[in-house]
Amino acid sequence: MEVEIRLGSIQEIASELIVVNLFQGVEQPGGATGAVDRALGGAITELIAAGDFRGKLGETAVLYPRGAIPARRVMVVGLGERASFNAQAVRRAAASAAQAAQRLGVRTFHTILHGAGAGGVPPAEAAQAIVEGTILGTYAFTGYGAPSPDRPAPIERMAIVLFGAAQQQEVEEGARAGRIIAESTCFVRDLVNRPANYMTPAMLAQAALAMAQEVGLRCDVLDEEQMAALGMGALLGVAQGSDQPPRFIILEYSGGEPKAAPYVIVGKGITFDSGGISLKPGEGMHLMKNDMAGAAATLGVLRAVALLKLPIHVVGLIAATENLPSGKAYKPGDVLKSLSGLTIEVISTDAEGRLILADALTYAKRYQPRAVVDLATLTGGCVVALGRVASGLMGTDEALIQALRQAAEESGEKTWPLPLYDEYAEQIKSEVADLKNSGGREASPIIGGMFLKRFAEGYPWAHVDIAGMVWSEKAQFETPQGATGYGVRLLCQWLRHAARQAPEAADR
Ligand code: BES
Ligand code: MN
Ligand code: ZN
Repeated sequence: MEVEIRLGSIQEIASELIVVNLFQGVEQPGGATGAVDRALGGAITELIAAGDFRGKLGETAVLYPRGAIPARRVMVVGLGERASFNAQAVRRAAASAAQAAQRLGVRTFHTILHGAGAGGVPPAEAAQAIVEGTILGTYAFTGYGAPSPDRPAPIERMAIVLFGAAQQQEVEEGARAGRIIAESTCFVRDLVNRPANYMTPAMLAQAALAMAQEVGLRCDVLDEEQMAALGMGALLGVAQGSDQPPRFIILEYSGGEPKAAPYVIVGKGITFDSGGISLKPGEGMHLMKNDMAGAAATLGVLRAVALLKLPIHVVGLIAATENLPSGKAYKPGDVLKSLSGLTIEVISTDAEGRLILADALTYAKRYQPRAVVDLATLTGGCVVALGRVASGLMGTDEALIQALRQAAEESGEKTWPLPLYDEYAEQIKSEVADLKNSGGREASPIIGGMFLKRFAEGYPWAHVDIAGMVWSEKAQFETPQGATGYGVRLLCQWLRHAARQAPEAADR
C-alpha cells in the first residue's frame, strides 16, 4: 500500500472516499468533520441526531454527498470516549475504517489525521498509528487453497490530508515509521501463519537470509556441526528427535558506532512443538506451529530497525528446531550439557523452549551486550495468568524492565511484570545436574524465567513470555485471526527510545 501526505481541506478533495471522525457523545461535530458536515448541509449532525451513529471506537457510517462535495463517499469513524483516547485508539479507528473501505471496494482513500487536533495525540504519533492501523487491519494470510472469491481487493493507496504545512514533516516521519513497523509486523505474521511443513528450521533460516539481503543486514547461519563444535548441547538435545536439522541464526545491524555495545534480541524458534516424548494432548496441537513466533518477531524487529536506520547496534539470535518424539529423541531423565557448561536434567521434554534459549543466551555473552531481551512462547501458564491481553515480563535489570513497560504502554503491545524471587530457584534444583528444566505447574511462567536467568549472566536481561499474545482466535481491530506479529511494535518502540536517549558511547 502506498502512503501519501497531502495538504488541503478534506471537503475539497476529489476522492473515492474521504474519512472523518467523531468522539462518542459529540452532537455537533467540529474541526474537519464539522467542515464536511456543513458542506453536506448537516448530514453528519442528522446522522447523530437520528441515533444512527454514536461514535463508539471503530464504528463506521457511510454517507453519499451526491455532488455537494467532490468526494464520492464520506465515512465517519468513531474514536470512542475522549477520556480514554490515545494513539492505540487512533490505530484501532484507522483499522476499522480501512476494513470498511476495503469492503466498499475502494482502491484509494483520503483521511484526516485522527486524534491530532482535539484528541491531543502528537501529530507524528497519530500519523504512525493511522498507517499502522490501516496496514495491520487489512492484512490477510494468503494460505494454500484456491483464492476465495469474496476476499476484498487490497487498498492501493491511502492519503493523510493535512490542513496546514506546519506539521507536514513530523507527519511524514511518523507515517514512514508506521509503515516500516506495520510491514515488518505483517512479515512476521506471514512466517508464523505458515504451517510447520512450510516453516522448518532450514526454511526459517532461508527467510532470515532473504530478509537480511533485502534490507542490508549481516546474517550468518550455523548448522548442526557448527553448533556441536561450539558445545550447544541443550539446543542439540531438543533437536535430536527430529529429522529436520536445527539452525542457529545470527543477524547483525550496525547503525551506530561499530564498536558500541549492542542490544541483543533472542527468539525462541521451535517450528513445531509436539512436546516430544512428553507428548502434548492432540487437541489444538496444530497451533504449536506458532511456537517460533519469538524467532519471527526477532526477524521483524531487525528488519524494522534496519529500515528505520536507527543509530544503534542490534544483534538478533535465533535458536531454531522442531521438538518431536522419535527413537532418537531426548527423554525425560536425560542430562544435557549446555553451552554455558551447566548441566540440565530433563524432567519434561515439553519444557524445550528454555533449553534452546539457554544456549542462545550464553552465546549472547560474546557481544558484551548493553541489554538482552528474549521473546518466547514459553509457557501455557502465562496464558492462564495474563490471558491474551498482556505478555509476561521478567528480568534482572529494573531500568530495562521499566523501559520495556513504557514501550508497551506507548506501542499498544502490553506486557506485565512477574517476580523472579530467589525462593523460586528451589523448584528447579536437581539431584543429578546443576538444575532441571521443569518445576511442575506452580508458577510455571516464573520458573521458566528463573531457569533462563541462570544462563542470562553478565548483562542486563529481560524475558518476555509471549505465549498468549502471538495468536488470535478472532479478528479484532488491527489484529486479524491467526498470527498477530506481537513483539515488533513493542521492541521497536523500546529501541527507538534507546536510540534517542543514549548516544552510542559505551566502548567494549
Ligand atoms: N510452547 C509451549 C508453551 C505454550 C503452551 C505456548 C500453550 C502456547 C500455548 C512450551 O514449550 C511448553 O510446552 N511449556 C510447558 C512447560 C512445562 C512443561 C514446564 C507448559 O507451559 O506446559
Ligand atoms: Mn513445549
Ligand atoms: Zn514450546
